[in-house]
Amino acid sequence: MSKTQDELKREVAQAALDFIAPHLTPASMLGIGTGSTANEFINLLGTSGLPFSGTVASSEASAQRLRDFGIPVLDLSLVDSLQFYIDGADEANGALELIKGGGAALTREKIVAAASEFFVCIADESKEVATLGKFPLPIEVIPMAENIVINALRAMGGRPEVREGVITDNRNIIIDVHDFMIADPKATETAINQITGVVCNGLFAHRGADLLLLSGQTGVRSLRA
Ligand code: A5P
Repeated sequence: MSKTQDELKREVAQAALDFIAPHLTPASMLGIGTGSTANEFINLLGTSGLPFSGTVASSEASAQRLRDFGIPVLDLSLVDSLQFYIDGADEANGALELIKGGGAALTREKIVAAASEFFVCIADESKEVATLGKFPLPIEVIPMAENIVINALRAMGGRPEVREGVITDNRNIIIDVHDFMIADPKATETAINQITGVVCNGLFAHRGADLLLLSGQTGVRSLRA
C-alpha cells in the first residue's frame, strides 16, 4: 500500500528531527517554518524531549502551535543566532534553490533563514523539479504598489495575479506569478527585489537550503549543498 501525503510529511519531519538531534544542547535556538510539513515537525519536536532553549517562528500560526506544546517562542530581535532552521518548500531543485510562500509567510521565512546557521528543508518528492516556476512564484508587495509591481512582472514575462483575500502577517498583499519558468533563480531573485514596492519574493536561491530532505515511497533522500 502506498504512503499517503500526510505519512510522507511525517516521515520527512522525523528525518529532520533525527538529523538535528545529536547537535542540540540546552542552549540551542531553532528557527521554525510554516506550513503542513513544518507543522508535522512541530508535532514531533513538541513531544521529543530533546534539549533546546527556544524557537523563533516564521508565522503567527507556527508561533501559536509551538506555544500550544509549551515551547518558548522568542522575537528574533532577542536572539543572536539560530542553530537550525527547519521549514518546508513549494518547489526545490537539485541546487537546493527553493520557491516558498505558498502559505504567504515568505518574508518572515526569508528573515529567519538568513539568521540561521543551517537550513534543513523538508518536503515530499512531489516538490522536486528540474526548473523552478511551475508553482506560481509568491511575491509580498506593499498594497499601494500593486499596479506598478504587476506591470513590472508582466514586462519580465510572467502572469501576475493578486492572491485574493490574503493579507500577510506584515499587512501586505501577495502577488503570485504564473507561467514563469525560472532558468536562473539567483538572477531572477535579485531582479524582482529591484522592483519598487516589492518587500520580498519567494525565491530562496541566494540563501537556499543547506540540506534538502525529500520523502518518497521508498524512503527519505538527502541532498547536501
Ligand atoms: C509557507 O509560506 C511556505 O513557504 C511553506 O513552507 C510551503 O508552502 C510548504 O508548505 P507545505 O509544507 O504545506 O506544503
